[in-house]
Formats: sequence, structure tokens, C-alpha cells
Amino acid sequence: AIIYVPTDSGALALGADKVANSIASELETRGVEARIVRNGSRGMYWLEPMVEVATESGRVAYGPVKAADVLSLFDAEFLSGGNHRLSLGDPERIPFLARQTRLTFARCGKTDPLSLDDYRAHGGLTGLEKAAAMTPADIVKTVTDSGLRGRGGAGFPTGIKWNTVLGAVADRKYIVCNADEGDSATFADRMIMEGDPFVLIEGMAIAGLATGATKGFVYIRSEYPHAIRMMEKAVQVARRAGVLGPAVMGSPNAFDIEIRAGAGAYVCGEETSLLNSLEGKRGVVRAKPPLPAIQGLFGKPTVINNVISLASVPVILDKGAEYYRDFGMGRSRGTIPIQIAGNVKHGGLFEAAFGMTLGEIVDEIGGGTATGREIKAVQVGGPLGAYFPRALFDTPFDYEAFAAKDGLIGHAGITVFDETADMLKQARFAMEFCAIESCGKCTPCRIGSTRGVETLDKVAAGVEPEKNLALVTDLCNTMKFGSLCALGGFTPYPVMSAINHFPDDFAPRAVAEAAE
Ligand code: NAI
Ligand code: SF4
Repeated sequence: AIIYVPTDSGALALGADKVANSIASELETRGVEARIVRNGSRGMYWLEPMVEVATESGRVAYGPVKAADVLSLFDAEFLSGGNHRLSLGDPERIPFLARQTRLTFARCGKTDPLSLDDYRAHGGLTGLEKAAAMTPADIVKTVTDSGLRGRGGAGFPTGIKWNTVLGAVADRKYIVCNADEGDSATFADRMIMEGDPFVLIEGMAIAGLATGATKGFVYIRSEYPHAIRMMEKAVQVARRAGVLGPAVMGSPNAFDIEIRAGAGAYVCGEETSLLNSLEGKRGVVRAKPPLPAIQGLFGKPTVINNVISLASVPVILDKGAEYYRDFGMGRSRGTIPIQIAGNVKHGGLFEAAFGMTLGEIVDEIGGGTATGREIKAVQVGGPLGAYFPRALFDTPFDYEAFAAKDGLIGHAGITVFDETADMLKQARFAMEFCAIESCGKCTPCRIGSTRGVETLDKVAAGVEPEKNLALVTDLCNTMKFGSLCALGGFTPYPVMSAINHFPDDFAPRAVAEAAE
């Protein structure tokens, strides 16, 4: 029998290692032959650690399992799918998973993350094989035609970015993967690096073939030690198998990958700041132009893409641009791994075609708040995203639809707040976050954020609240249009959405009550 116990850091935080150890010692005590595979997570975090057993009639899941449950699981003959109070049945029939369209995350939680055979057996490497037989221009065209847009948050068409790099003439080009996932409520990058690292490696190798780049870097935030280790091991396996190296999959093209740990600043997720950090310099934002696609890492043409953008490329090359483009709505094509977090009953990763409404995601999929209270606000797109009230829950998950309502989907992290949330405090938090994380290069962000905190404190203290709120609005305008990068430029989204959608929290009476 094969027993799957996740090694995903979310599951580890909930005791997965202890569970795996208990299972191993119980196997020994009972003299039972079985293999424990440390897989990734399926992304249903309220069920982690979720243990799965491969039985003759398919996979059977149990969760959330504690080490103390292991004895009773053996007694219930879970190795042959026996019934137990933690039985979840076929994991793929759990409604949260059954409702998803898993293209990018197709293998995550199913396979052994470090087994290339397992990866191949589940459809891996066919995209790269096909790419190796295509011209660079055709690969780029396939990615462009698929409609894939940057999943880091900006939504810039990936194929167009690659085309700029393909057209740039240079002795060296680079592929840089941005794995500095700093947004609150986001964990898709981490989950796929820990659960299916080869899909990212494959996507980067395809990007190399498409643009003529021979070297790739994955810049992973230092807060992700498990992802760093998993990626390092996976790169070694890929090298040994000839997937990476002087002849990628037997083609005449070379491509290799190096893993780098980030320096621990939110702003290092901004692409030019990340490039500086990768070059060993301080993580300060560079002015654009020149675009990284023309002059990026070490001054050379560089594709810099988010983990999910790159990890979505193999399925596109494998199944074709049309297959991918058929999912989604408007100009948002394909699927998006939505990350549901905060005060929510069913937190986890939900990959779906663009177009579901925000209400469906938080009420139906997320199951409402964990506290059972009414939802007051939902912040989409990390700390720089807008707070949406229930009145906007009919907004479909689509880049343009969110922008039309002064919001953004960003890296698709959703944080749910119940009715006890104080939106004035949340607005202050946004300004404070910006003040702490600002790289200091430009005035609206460096000084504006600190003045923003002070001015919101005056509003909270009831000092000329109307005048000071007007000042905050004015300041937000300056930051939005005068900042060099998204950190200063997007901080106004959470602040202004809090003021506009939750005016009661900024009214003198509410403020006076909060001050008491
Ligand atoms: P941007 O709009 O300036 O750039 C988008 C991308 O397109 C960049 O990579 C840029 O270099 C590239 N580009 C533009 N024109 C091009 C051309 N002609 N050829 C080739 N490439 C071209 O946006 P930016 O500043 O890169 O990202 C802002 C976004 O980052 C925000 O929307 C926010 O949601 C997101 N974000 C994500 C975080 C995360 O943890 N994933 C954290 C903070 C913000
Ligand atoms: Fe640096 Fe802030 Fe200016 Fe961005 S907006 S360049 S983080 S000071």
C-alpha cells in the first residue's frame, strides 16, 4: 500500500511530520509493508493533515489527522480504506475539490513531488517535449494565443512579454521566476513549489526555449524554507534526468536553473527591486524604462514572471492555446488559483476558470466566516487590494471587472473579515504597512505613508475628522499617481475603499465609541 502524508508547510504546521512518524512506527510494530510518500497539499487546509491511502478501488482520504488518531486508523484498517470517524472518502469527490478546474494544480497533492516518473505518469513533460520540437516564435505564439496573463497581479499578457525578450538581441538572456509571494492570504506559489516543483521547472525550461535564455533563477522568499529545499532537490533530479542541462530533453538548447533565497522585504517582490536583490544589491526599485524584458538581470534581456504564470505554461503547450483560452471570461482567459483565507470556514486553494462571482467564492466555496458572524468585508489582492462590501459581491473574478469597481484581483488572495472588523483600523494598517515596507526611493510613498498614518490617527481621535479625511483623500491621489511602483501607488486602494464603502466606521460617533 502507499500512504500519502503531505509535506506542504501548511500541513507541517498542523502536525503532518508527527503523523508520518506515528504511521511509520505503527507499520513497523505491526510488521505491515507499506510505503509512505510525502506529497503536496490538495489545498483544503481545514482538513490538513489529510492522509490518503491508495487502495485497490482508488484513493481514500482521512482528515484532519492527528498523531493520536493513528492507532485507531490502523484498528479501522484504513490501509484498505476502512471506515473511521475521519473518513473523507475519495478526495476528488469532496465538493471543494470536485468543483474546481485544476489545470495548473492538476498534480498538486496527488503525486510524489520529487518523482519524475510520477510527474510523467500524470502528464508531465509533454509540454516541454512539444516545445522542443517547435520554433521559438511558435512557442511564443502559442502562449500569446492562450490569453495567459501575468498571475503575479498586473495581468500583463505573458506571450507579449516573452516576445519582447525573443526579439531582443543579446549574448545572454535570463528567465527569472518571482517566488517572493508577499501578499497577505496568498500561498499558491508556495503550494505548487512544495507540491509539484517540476511543473515550474518545466515552465521555465519552455520559457528558455521560447526566448533563447539559457539560465533561470527562482527567487524564493526566505520565509519559505520548505519550498526552497523542495525546489533545490527537484532541480537536481531534473538535471540528472537531462530535463535541465546542456541539452534540454535531448534538444540542442541549454537551460539550467539556480534557486536563490530572498532578502526578506515585501518590495523585493516588485520586479526591478527583485532584480537588484538578485544581483546582490539593496532591494530598491529601478525606474522603468528600460523594461526588464530589454535590460533586466545584469543588464540583459530578462523574462520575469510569477510562479503561477510559468507553471501554467506546460499545460498550454501540452493541450494547446485554444484548450486553455476556452476557460474564462472577457480578457481573463484560463484558470486562476484563488486563495481563500482570513476569517473563513473553508480556507484553501480553489483553482477555477475566471468568472465566478466574489459572493460565490466566499459564501458558497468558503462557507462564510469561521466565527459564524456576518461577513463585513473581503479584501482581494493582498495588502494593496481594495475592501469590498457585500454590495459588490456580484463582481465576477476578472481583471477588468475588478478594476471597474476600483479593486484588483492581484495574485488572487482573498481575506475575509467579519462584522467585528474596524475599517478605520484597516485603513491605518494599509498606510502603516506602506511606511514600513517602502523602499524610500520616491517621496509620495516614503513620506506620504507616514503622513497618512498620522492623519488617520487624527480622524480616529476625532480631531477635525472631516478636514482630515479630505486630507487623506488628497494624499491618496498623490500617492496613486505620483509613486514609482505599485507599493505606494496601490496603498490608496485599501484606504479609499474602506472610506468609501464603510463610511460609518469613519463617522465621529463610531470613532468616539472606538476611542472609549
Ligand atoms: P506593471 O503593470 O508595471 O508591469 C507588468 C509587467 O509587464 C511587468 O513585468 C513589466 O515589465 C511588463 N511589461 C510591460 N510592458 C511590456 C512590454 N512592452 N514588453 C515586455 N514586458 C512588458 O506592474 P508591476 O509593477 O510589475 O506589478 C504590479 C502588480 O503586482 C499589482 O497589480 C499587484 O497586484 C501585484 N503585486 C503582487 C504581489 C505578490 O505577492 N504576488 C505583491 C504586491 C503587488
Ligand atoms: Fe519605493 Fe514606495 Fe516609491 Fe515603490 S512607491 S519606488 S516602494 S518609495
